[in-house]
Amino acid sequence: MPHAIGQPLTRIDGRLKVTGRARYTTDHRIPNTAHAVLVMSAIAKGRIASIDTRAAGRVTGVLAVVTHENASRLATPPDAETGNPSTRKLQVLQDDVVRYPNQPIGVVVAESLEAAREAAALLVVQYAAEPHDVRLEPRLGQAYTPRHAARADQPPESARGDVARGLAAADVRHEHVYRTPLETHNPMEPHATIAVWDGPTRLALHDATQGIFGARKRIAALFGLRPEDVRVISEFLGGGFGSKGPTWSHVVLAAMAARHVGRPVKLALARPQMFGPIGWRSPTRQAIAVGARRDGTLTALRHETVALTSSFDEFMEPASMPSRMLYSCPDVVTSHRLVRADIGTPSYMRAPGWAPGTYALECAIDEMAHALEIDPLAFRLKNHADRDPEKNRRWSTKALRECYEVGAEQFGWKARPLIPGTLRDGHVRIGWGMATAVYPAHRSPASARVRLEPDGLLIVETGSQDLGTGTYTILAQIAAEAMRLPATRVRVRIGDTELPETPVSGGSQTAASVGTAVHLASTALRQKLIQLAVGDGRSPLSGLAVTDVALENGRLVARAAPSRNETLQALLARVGMGVDARADAELDPAHERYASYAFGAEFAEVRVDGDLGQIRVSRLLGVFDPGRVLNAKTARSQFAGGMVWGMGIALHEDTVLDERLGRVVNGNLADYHVPVHADVPAIEVQWVERPDEHVSAIGAKGIGELPITGAAAAIANAVFHATGRRVRDVPITPDKLL
Ligand code: MOS
Repeated sequence: MPHAIGQPLTRIDGRLKVTGRARYTTDHRIPNTAHAVLVMSAIAKGRIASIDTRAAGRVTGVLAVVTHENASRLATPPDAETGNPSTRKLQVLQDDVVRYPNQPIGVVVAESLEAAREAAALLVVQYAAEPHDVRLEPRLGQAYTPRHAARADQPPESARGDVARGLAAADVRHEHVYRTPLETHNPMEPHATIAVWDGPTRLALHDATQGIFGARKRIAALFGLRPEDVRVISEFLGGGFGSKGPTWSHVVLAAMAARHVGRPVKLALARPQMFGPIGWRSPTRQAIAVGARRDGTLTALRHETVALTSSFDEFMEPASMPSRMLYSCPDVVTSHRLVRADIGTPSYMRAPGWAPGTYALECAIDEMAHALEIDPLAFRLKNHADRDPEKNRRWSTKALRECYEVGAEQFGWKARPLIPGTLRDGHVRIGWGMATAVYPAHRSPASARVRLEPDGLLIVETGSQDLGTGTYTILAQIAAEAMRLPATRVRVRIGDTELPETPVSGGSQTAASVGTAVHLASTALRQKLIQLAVGDGRSPLSGLAVTDVALENGRLVARAAPSRNETLQALLARVGMGVDARADAELDPAHERYASYAFGAEFAEVRVDGDLGQIRVSRLLGVFDPGRVLNAKTARSQFAGGMVWGMGIALHEDTVLDERLGRVVNGNLADYHVPVHADVPAIEVQWVERPDEHVSAIGAKGIGELPITGAAAAIANAVFHATGRRVRDVPITPDKLL
């Protein structure tokens, strides 16, 4: 019990979820709610010539059809620069311009969802279409270096040393282009919002968002409200994977529609409506040049990414990032450029940049190892970066060598033949591949408060939101450990902007950020309770120094004389009410002296049908370095989930755009391939636990995004090892092998 942190505690919200009592956004029943359905553009570019709403208006129960012709104007234009590269420009019926297919062009509001849907289907939209272009590859000449999208921690360009010199010094040079496709988020829970106005100046939103405070700020600005008059609630989420990070158009439209009809409005995206208006992962074209000496020493690395952005906004998929820091290499140049296309703005998807970037880099490294006739793991170890080569800092912690070692041992890597195409089982070719996983350890300021109630329950309150990853559970464990209570005595309240402020649940930062705040608040509460006891003449501990008292099993005990003790309950009974403490966890500037990343090693075995080119992943092993593991069960689940998604990148996912129509061909969950149970082998997950106190007081570095990195390369490298065929454009579908 004392060491609640790390235990494989089953989700404390699990029972609520399986019994249907956990209320997701659309589960909230608010009296008098009207139902809204979005109408999306059928063309990629042009103007709306007319919208005939007559037939729609005749459907029984229709309350309003809101289009650019009758929509209210916002206080702040939805395409104003905000200075925040994560704030997206929105399409919320402020003009007649169509900028991408599936752009919201109207909202139908009705008494029932069925009536709204029927009416939406009866709208007659005439377009004045203009020529569009959704392609990347033929327009590389138009690529430009992003200006607005670059975050301070992700400048588009980097250089160290002299890459031309490094390539010239190499005995072997390898230069190839790797491509990843447009990938679309399909979380189990589609995006949804319920907007409830309280008079003209106060707004409450139930919203499926990864960032309640970001949503509050954005919505307040757009509607000209005070942030404190906007309340955003997000108690349970069915995934988000980055797509619920920014505030997208439909959230604003729900609030506009609610104001229009003077009633609460519920708006959920239909599955096909999720392809375009809520961000997606840009396709990438990654040109990589590697130079190495015969002995396996890397001499040069050049990684140039070109990705798409929209015609009206800028998002940079930072795929060249891993090449800056993963290997010890003197001469390195990286860049990112963008091509504008008539598509919805790309955005964050699980491990933005690092997922496609490690795919390309870790394939290129595998190819170089093959060219040098060196084992790919030995090649990586030879070029292991003992310091951060990008900024010449020490790593805060790095257990990558151990991950490689444990993984190789567990997988039986030693037995891998160097020559591809040698492992066979009848006409099935078997291949083994591996790759490195890496993702930055992010942390942001966060606040939390905890309160011990007279009945002994510990209440944890912090904004935040649980994507489904287990945030409720780890926060309970952290508080339980500090207060020496069983986690079952802890109640966690999150997902409400009335609670202390926290960052977006993105960048795998929630455990380190919010977890630290809860840890500090709980520790402060423990101290406060001891203080109360030693300062209270009625306490057996009266007069002792605070440091002389310990908290054990709900009891305050004098360290030197354990017979002097009292229960917390006795103390609280005298106080007569609950006792609380709050913490605002700031960042320690000293952590800038270190480079902080989570690492891992992933190993894959594939079986490729020699006649059909069909690929089965038969083994997948990941060994990770995530810092301290807060819950062994939810951690394992996140690791396995990320590895499954890596399979999807390698073998399945591809959002196909029809170049002539500009539209998505497979734009729904039924046609969009992702790995299903039958595709997924028994996944093995392990970790090398090394708490990282530079990242957070609780030692966590972050888990969510790490395992999707490296996984696709491990599988692609295994396919090469099985077949001797190198496919550089994922997904690796059977036709590419035949
Ligand atoms: Mo993540 S793509 O930062 O939600």
